[in-house]
Amino acid sequence: MGFERRKILVKNTISTITEQKRNGQKISMLTAYDYSTARLMDEAGINIILVGDSLGMTMLGYEDTLSVTMEDMIHHTAAVARGAKNAFVVADMPFMSYQTSVYDAVTNAGRLMKEGRANAVKLEGGASVCEQIKAIAECSIPVVAHLGMTPQSVNAFGGFKVQGKDEAAALKLISDSLEVEKAGACMAVLECVPHKLAAYISSILSIPVIGIGAGAGCDGQVLVYQDMLAMYSDFTPKFVKKFADVGALMKEGFSQYIKEIQSGEFPSSEHVFKKDDDTDYEKLAQKLNS
Ligand code: KIV
Repeated sequence: MGFERRKILVKNTISTITEQKRNGQKISMLTAYDYSTARLMDEAGINIILVGDSLGMTMLGYEDTLSVTMEDMIHHTAAVARGAKNAFVVADMPFMSYQTSVYDAVTNAGRLMKEGRANAVKLEGGASVCEQIKAIAECSIPVVAHLGMTPQSVNAFGGFKVQGKDEAAALKLISDSLEVEKAGACMAVLECVPHKLAAYISSILSIPVIGIGAGAGCDGQVLVYQDMLAMYSDFTPKFVKKFADVGALMKEGFSQYIKEIQSGEFPSSEHVFKKDDDTDYEKLAQKLNS
């Protein structure tokens, strides 16, 4: 008789995640866009699943995130929410779903919660979106602020570039971080920011700061799952570490499948449905003409 070792998984909430920051326990976050991936991450014990608008690139093949719609986000968030039993689910607000007005921001955040069953929403920007953050938070919807390299501003930035490099930009980032916290954001994501600056911002905010390309001084880390599993090769940022070569494994499996179909090895007798009698189907088919 052996003992089965089971990981005790705790339901992650904004309180447990904030407590992790207070206790100096690092927070884990990954993107997911579908039910089965969300389930695997949830079973592995991830704290937060982000249904990122990066799905525009990784799932839909766009060159950036700008074409992602509210319908896309709701569809994928609902699938992830069904697979996430313990993880805290954050859904991205797509481009132009909150910048246009406070009314649009609140309405669309509400849709991600009601129809997508997210636990929180994320939007990009600092001082310029604080009115939206305040209004959404006042509706009891937790809001995550995304600062630094905000992909929805790719055209304004002139590409996916590291932010906060000179003193003026660093000061603006520090000020934006303080502003979003004051406006009611429950968490912040810092993307592509020099690591010392990111560590400083994490130390002055009381909300958890999750980094991506922002170094180890943040309270937690997030990566796009296709990047860390080597499943997306269109573009790999410098900050990505490949934790497993799932892309190569998938290709190997697909090639083997094709080979076995061609050789007749698949399906074999163990994969077919058998019937005990020995019906003569040719004779049976003659009944169609009689
Ligand atoms: O959309 C996304 O996946 C994100 C992460 C890169 C933080 O916003």
